[in-house]
This record gives sequence, structure tokens and C-alpha cells, in this order.
Amino acid sequence: MEAIRNQKLTPLAPQKDSEPLADKGCGCQENSAAKEVSRRTFLKLGLGTLGVIAALEIGAASWLFLQARGQEVQGGKVLAGSVDDFPPGSVTEFKERAFFLIRDPEGGFLAIYRRCPHLGCTVNWQPDGNSFHCPCHSADFDFYGDCEGPPVPRPLDLFAVTIDESRVLVDMSQPQQRDQFSPAQLIYA
Ligand code: FES
Repeated sequence: MEAIRNQKLTPLAPQKDSEPLADKGCGCQENSAAKEVSRRTFLKLGLGTLGVIAALEIGAASWLFLQARGQEVQGGKVLAGSVDDFPPGSVTEFKERAFFLIRDPEGGFLAIYRRCPHLGCTVNWQPDGNSFHCPCHSADFDFYGDCEGPPVPRPLDLFAVTIDESRVLVDMSQPQQRDQFSPAQLIYA
């Protein structure tokens, strides 16, 4: 203990900031490179997270928009949207409501029930063929829901459409049967 007490302590020389770290042989350059990589990784992760959040927000907004369309407003009447939401020559599917809203090239509206009048299967819209198709017995219906004949007994049924101050309303309380398509079935704004 006496020897330690008498020993003259030499203060450590202060390390200069400008002194290259590599010269110390401490592996500090590798540490610096590693920090740079982790910073880049962090930035990438941050940007990726922001991208995911933006995508989720867009998805949620679209979902809310689609939810708003197809809302029941009164006594079986469903608000399909505003007239301008449906360009002439378009077919819009309302899956939850089991109908297609078509707007023909002249601007007339028709709400077509998705249920096949043969045995009740669900028909699908085929944009390539500009027609509806029933997968159960391979029946086709044209743009207006008219059928080609047996085994299907009649065209696809309709729901009544009304236009109220540019709002398109579809009355789903009772599907309407018809013998064939007629232009009188189209509703105009
Ligand atoms: S159920 Fe659609 S064609 Fe038979």
C-alpha cells in the first residue's frame, strides 16, 4: 500500500478530436460503417412504415366511400350514389345488396337482381363479353339482363329505380319480373 501511495501518477494525455480513429487500431471505422448502415436501415424502415400507413388510409377511405354507397335510406330503398358516379355505358356491382346498377350508353338506369331466374344461382358480370353469366347452367344474359332462352325462363329481374335530386335510389323491397327487356324500363335523370 505504501508503494502505491508514493507512486507518481501521470495524467492521461487528452485525446485530440482530429486524431484519426483508425490509427488507434480500435475498429472504430467498422463501428462508423455499421452506424451508417443502421441509419440507412432505419430510414428505409421509417419510409416503409409511412407507405403502409398511407396505403391503409387510402384503403379505409375507399371502404367508407363504398359503405356510403349502398346505404339503406328508407323502406328498402338503397342510396346507390349520385347520377354522376355512374358514367353512361357502365355496370356497377353492389355485392352486399345483390344487384347491378347499369347505366346504358344513352344515360338510362336499370337495377338488375343478381339472382338467376332459373334456379337462383348468382350471376356474374363479364366485362369482356359485355354480358352477365350464370355459372350453374352456363346461361348468358345481355347488357340489359335479357336472356337467350331455355333453360332460363325470363330475363334477370329488376328493382325499381328512382332519381331524387341527382341521387340514384334503388327499391329492393320487391324484385320485378319481366318477359323481356324494353326501353321503357330505363329510368333517366
Ligand atoms: S341457375 Fe342459372 S342457368 Fe340454371
